Amino acid sequence: MSDYELQEAAQRILSGNWTTVSSKEGFTKPTNGLYPFQWSWDSAFHAMGYARTDVTKAQTELRTLFAGQWSNGLLPHIVFHNADSDEAQGYFPGPDVWRSSVSSVAPDTLPTSGLVQPPVHAYAVWQVFATMRDEGERKAKNWLREMYPKLLHFHRYLHTARDPESTGLITIYHPWESGLDNSPRWDESLEKVEKADMSAYVRRDTQHVDKKQRPSDDAYARYMSLVHSLRDARYDDERISRQHAFRVKDIFLSSLLYRSNGYLLQMATALGKATDEIESWLDAYETGLEELCWDEEDGLYYDYDLIAEKRVRCKTIASLMPLMSVGIGVARRESLITHLESRDFCGEGNCSYGLKPSVSLSDESYSPKLYWRGPVWVNANWLLSLALYEQGHMDYAMALCEELIQMVKREGFYEYYATDTGEGLGGKNFSWSAALVLDILERRQLRLSSALDKLLKPEAAAADVGV
Ligand code: GLC
Repeated sequence: MSDYELQEAAQRILSGNWTTVSSKEGFTKPTNGLYPFQWSWDSAFHAMGYARTDVTKAQTELRTLFAGQWSNGLLPHIVFHNADSDEAQGYFPGPDVWRSSVSSVAPDTLPTSGLVQPPVHAYAVWQVFATMRDEGERKAKNWLREMYPKLLHFHRYLHTARDPESTGLITIYHPWESGLDNSPRWDESLEKVEKADMSAYVRRDTQHVDKKQRPSDDAYARYMSLVHSLRDARYDDERISRQHAFRVKDIFLSSLLYRSNGYLLQMATALGKATDEIESWLDAYETGLEELCWDEEDGLYYDYDLIAEKRVRCKTIASLMPLMSVGIGVARRESLITHLESRDFCGEGNCSYGLKPSVSLSDESYSPKLYWRGPVWVNANWLLSLALYEQGHMDYAMALCEELIQMVKREGFYEYYATDTGEGLGGKNFSWSAALVLDILERRQLRLSSALDKLLKPEAAAADVGV
């Protein structure tokens, strides 16, 4: 398959999953059937792809998502547009379970969940801005003026309500907030959570995907009891931060927020706004990360469980995400790279692709086909490549991107891929896998033309185009 054919196939998937809400609103479903609504971080990834091919759609996707933002800044992990459609009727847990209207700060008419997901939206807003800039500075700046306050509101919510201890690291109330739902990082903390009575519920995810590759019934009963307890507290952070049974500082989400704060800082500067608050968040993360999360013995960073008051020593791709940080110092950076290059993270040609598994092969929980407990995910590898590129490991970053392209060409656009055989699994025609392929193809093109430019016109060397 040529790159051109791959690009066309990716675009076909995105248009197939496009859902119109009104004359001005629309979004991309992650995949048909399994996920029929708008998911928060998925939409940010979709917008990154659209930013390369159809900037108006990127804007619509983000605006439609932010229509669900709560007045305290929380950007919900699911926005239930089209909740009456036949497809949406069969989703669990749907709007009737979340009942966001019990919160005084949720939107009045648009039902949502009451959780967040990793805040990668600033990347997307910035990418749209970068593309629009080629057409003219004024319209591009208007886009930033529209989105900057919404992003700032969301990040401020995370740094205050979700970090009352001012560690610079964000507390999650539910594994679903991590974006890496059934990662073994949550097993120990979840064990202390009571199980909900599931007799009134029917799980729908297992009607779409092989049950063996989905979270267990036991985990689901605990997930639901956390949802009940948040809803019973009317999603009031003050209460939740004191009594909720699951409170963990998430290193993956916090590292992505750190990078997003970097973009927010660039936006503030472009708009002539004050930057002190954002700078204080960047500093706080760098300190909190070293104080709470570094594990000298393993040479890795780990999440921190606030209830058990200890690090969660589970080796996963999340442990590598502090590569996003400029502040971790040479020795710790090298330690992370050593892990990344080892067999444990498929660095010695020992897996079907040179891509990074969601869980280290050396962790006892590793399972090559089970959702976030081992398989390869396109978005996690894409994020890692971004971190590597920005921190100077350009060739490594580009090699990961090339492997992603090869894998998708051979296996198709799936939700995730078996680490041992490479087989595509979970949802088919998966939108973020398509969107991020579009992004990589464009970055590669830009990099080639920039390299050519530098060869022909050395004075252009200063104008770096980024990964
Ligand atoms: C699953 C994933 C989550 C994603 C959602 C929709 O729940 O774990 O990260 O946002 O599906 O694709």
